[in-house]
Amino acid sequence: RRIAVLISGRGSNLEALVEAMAAERWDARIVAVIANRPDAAGLAWAAARGLPTAGLDHRAFAEREAFDAALAQAIDASGAELVVLAGFMRILSDGFVRRYEGRLVNIHPSLLPAFAGLHTHRRALEAGCAFAGATVHLVTPTLDHGPIIAQAVVPVRPDDTEAGLSARVLAAEHRLYPMALRWLIEGRLALDAQGRVRPLDGQ
Ligand code: GRF
Repeated sequence: RRIAVLISGRGSNLEALVEAMAAERWDARIVAVIANRPDAAGLAWAAARGLPTAGLDHRAFAEREAFDAALAQAIDASGAELVVLAGFMRILSDGFVRRYEGRLVNIHPSLLPAFAGLHTHRRALEAGCAFAGATVHLVTPTLDHGPIIAQAVVPVRPDDTEAGLSARVLAAEHRLYPMALRWLIEGRLALDAQGRVRPLDGQ
């Protein structure tokens, strides 16, 4: 399977994926790493690893639809079948999301449906949550609301700071995202009648 990874910054989830793919010898390869910020650290890391990279500066586009069309063109030119959002901080238009329906995946740093949107760790601390975590989900037009593929839970400590909690969740993300993507690539998941993700029978 051919994978495109979309990033905006650091790219630590991309790194975790690349490392898992190599260590576990996945029958898959990354055909494009695309960033909406040409200075994204993850883009330089990917280029240094010899992965095909593209910087597509969203500020060069007057409208979201025009940026999304250029993004889709870059993805399709790479031949990618699966589109992986890994810290991609742009909202995608409905048209873009529909085009990749069922093969567009995101990781969000909260236990969805709690805390969709930004500042998830701060909000979890403010709410007094005992647990926080991360969610891998299929992307639908409603932000951070698609069918849940997998979740990881981490404890919130009494003296936690936003930075401390965020680091603990990120470490969990690095284990969770490759695992969930592997299930998807191996065709081990299906949607039930309610549109929820379920393991296929016999697995
Ligand atoms: C992660 O916490 C991800 O869940 C969120 O943005 C962060 C990206 O980190 N959407 P990185 O760029 O993968 O290091």
